[in-house]
Amino acid sequence: MAAPADRNLPVNDPDDASWWRSAVIYQVYIRSFADGNGDGVGDIAGLRDRLPYLADLGVDAVWINPWYPSPLVDAGYDVSDYRAIEPRFGTLADAEALIADAHERGMRIILDVVPNHTSSAHVWFGEALRAGPGSPERDRYVFRPGRGPGGDEPPNDWKAMFGGGAWTRVTEPDGTPGEWYLHLFDVEQPDLNWENPEVRADFEQTLRFWFDRGIDGFRIDVANSLIKETGLPDVGTRRNHEPGPHPHWDRDEVHDVYRDWRRIADTYDPPRVFVAEAWVPEADRFARYLRADELHTAFNFDFLQAAWLAPALRESVTRTLREHAVVGAPPTWVLSNHDVARHVSRLARDPDAGIGTSLDSMLGTVADLELGLRRARAAALLIFALPGGAYVYQGDELGLPEVEDLPPDVLDDPTWRRSGHTERGRDGCRVPIPWSGDAPPFGFGEGEPWLPQPEWFAEHTAEALAKDPDSILNLYRSALRLRRENPALGDGPLTWLDAPEGALAFARDRGFVLVLNVSAEPLPLPAGAEIILASGPLTEDARVPADTAVWLAAH
Ligand code: NOJ
Repeated sequence: MAAPADRNLPVNDPDDASWWRSAVIYQVYIRSFADGNGDGVGDIAGLRDRLPYLADLGVDAVWINPWYPSPLVDAGYDVSDYRAIEPRFGTLADAEALIADAHERGMRIILDVVPNHTSSAHVWFGEALRAGPGSPERDRYVFRPGRGPGGDEPPNDWKAMFGGGAWTRVTEPDGTPGEWYLHLFDVEQPDLNWENPEVRADFEQTLRFWFDRGIDGFRIDVANSLIKETGLPDVGTRRNHEPGPHPHWDRDEVHDVYRDWRRIADTYDPPRVFVAEAWVPEADRFARYLRADELHTAFNFDFLQAAWLAPALRESVTRTLREHAVVGAPPTWVLSNHDVARHVSRLARDPDAGIGTSLDSMLGTVADLELGLRRARAAALLIFALPGGAYVYQGDELGLPEVEDLPPDVLDDPTWRRSGHTERGRDGCRVPIPWSGDAPPFGFGEGEPWLPQPEWFAEHTAEALAKDPDSILNLYRSALRLRRENPALGDGPLTWLDAPEGALAFARDRGFVLVLNVSAEPLPLPAGAEIILASGPLTEDARVPADTAVWLAAH
């Protein structure tokens, strides 16, 4: 690959304790980012090699999906040791070197902590199985006797997120059918018992272990689970992520955990930060995670789910700003991640078609990928202009669409298995990304990538896009440089401006205006405005066409 151009990016201040209020954070899905040792799986060595690319892109921090020892049943969200590195990804020394390299380049590192469940390969789970009912070892997890004659029925009616029931029965050390254990995700992901002080103490030790190694923060996996209602009552007809009390989502007591974690993060200099993954539908309940003595930020899934329609986008932005203002926290803006279909492909669909965020919800609907890319470019300028921080999922900057037709025999997501091969799941957004060349493995590494890359990835390599001044990669690079230079962007207020139906316009303080035409007739530019950046060409008479965003300097 060509060496990154010297773009004279302003350098981030390593002592800035409020960096997270405005940060653009790049998500590295490590096994699909870059493979340094030729085994077809991305790793720390590959990521280290690509740090210059990320620095040149202009991101402020990198969030790395779980890199801990794991059977990778759920892509590393099944952790068997929280204070070590999965050998397929490298060593602890590699991790330390990566952290140092990133810091040297002015980028921060966020790791993923997975507190709701361990892997069934975790030493604690083995001990729990061997120790038997009523033991302190079992009390680290959620074991219960079954219901019905002989305890043959699960303790309650809870369902697992990947399909099927949330309980599995174990065989006791004496060979008899025994208790059941809870797993809200896959069978190999037993839920921890957060009422147990040993569990709490152990996670605090994990936080310190990585903070002491210089990492800048943690993303908290399913931050709204952890605590279960006493007595584990049936869930009945309640559905996941619907408003109202639920026996295993968003219990009030979970906030005590985060108050403890915040106290630990605040003992470091500069203080370490947290971002919550919390799918909480009620705005006021969501904001509770962001109170001043709890977590710093949370992924904004409300916005990620908003349809590409001006009223839906505007309502989501307004709701987000309102709910965050109550607790004084900066919002985040997310278009894609490793759990949802890539947004180029979602935006390629009719916004009125009622698709969800998964590939399975889109299959069979008509897609116009050129349109999806045009909208993705406009969406990028929107999120980088909104107040607060933003996330970039690896490949967003390459305009990568979802791989919708992976052969069934390569599918690895537990959703595929647990749904009885009826739901394809999330592998289509996890295909190793293309760096260079015109055939697989597209510079990903020497070996055959763990998921096959389609031929059309050739149009999306970083190498090819870097050479095209109008590419989405160069749009991202320009936007991120301008964003870092412009004090009006990042954290701060937003003022809505009048815009015709089908369009959005807002001002940032001072002197910055965004105009986004979602579906209106071509829009004239405000008088006296100077274009800083546009997501696509304007009309011949310099108006903003549909699916285009422009950044303006307003004098
Ligand atoms: C959320 C993670 O993002 C997802 O990938 C994982 O499967 C679940 N949590 C379970 O840990």
